[in-house]
Amino acid sequence: MANKPRALVTRPLFPAARAILDEKFEVEYWTQAERIPRAELLKRVTDKEALVVLLTEKVDDELLATSRKLRIASTVSVGFDNIDVPACTRRKVVATNTPGVLDDTTADFAWTLLMAVARRLVEGDVWMRSGTWPGWDLDQLLGGDIWGKTLGIIGFGRIGRGVARRAQGFQMRLLYHDQARVAPEVERGLHAEFVDLDRLLGESDFISLHVPLLPETRHLLSKDAFGKMKPTAYLINTSRGPVVDEGALVEALEQKQIAGAALDVYEHEPKVHPGLIPRRDVILTPHIASASVETRTKMAVMAATNAVALFEGLRPPNALNAADLGL
Ligand code: DGY
Repeated sequence: MANKPRALVTRPLFPAARAILDEKFEVEYWTQAERIPRAELLKRVTDKEALVVLLTEKVDDELLATSRKLRIASTVSVGFDNIDVPACTRRKVVATNTPGVLDDTTADFAWTLLMAVARRLVEGDVWMRSGTWPGWDLDQLLGGDIWGKTLGIIGFGRIGRGVARRAQGFQMRLLYHDQARVAPEVERGLHAEFVDLDRLLGESDFISLHVPLLPETRHLLSKDAFGKMKPTAYLINTSRGPVVDEGALVEALEQKQIAGAALDVYEHEPKVHPGLIPRRDVILTPHIASASVETRTKMAVMAATNAVALFEGLRPPNALNAADLGL
């Protein structure tokens, strides 16, 4: 049997994904507990034709220059800001991601955060565990109502719309903002109104972010944006950390320009702005919005399937630069 092509995979993934990869490739998995150091990644990728990475590993021009045999870089994430797609295209490397399979799980989690921050869930839990709760009282841990309020969704793609669908049960008014309007029937179906960013910021009680990280979305929420929000509003971020200027967020919270924030992603992961840590009006989770067993397995399988497809002479189903590479 001819030699199999060689692949580097920066995590052991899940058995279902490994089975797909192992059949097609001679695979080297990075299995150590700490993530693969950059120097190690650059060294190990040199003789590989396929690379499967997590969103924490950068596939940039430096890496591509050292891996002249590489034909595909497959990220186990829908966000692909870790991959320099134009650089891949220049070097004729196919770049792929994992869209679609994590939409509902992520939308569920945006709602988990929304409800938790509005109803002060974490503070309540901490209080109960401290053994100091004196019993029921009328004015304990008062939060903000959710039902009947206005939800503003920034980024109305699959995940944003999933968040919108879930708002129906809470009788919320729904505003959205994106680069372009969605089809009228989608707006009607979701009872969603397209508004400009300023109106969304000024009228929403909850603002949930669902944009990809692009040069134009970096620091989309900055000092100026927080200044336009209601003092009773909550910010939910399950998209990418750098969409929010964390320093400006801390300032806005300190000055009570907004009521609170629930963040799953951070500007400089894994670091968190020190000003956020002690705040009781903030909920912090470790980038787990898509972290259900089912969804993370599907993502890994999808990334593996993308890599394998190319070596079977097919167009990888989620190729980001298919058209540019003439696939
Ligand atoms: C992604 O896929 O981009 C998420 O951030 C992790 O699931």
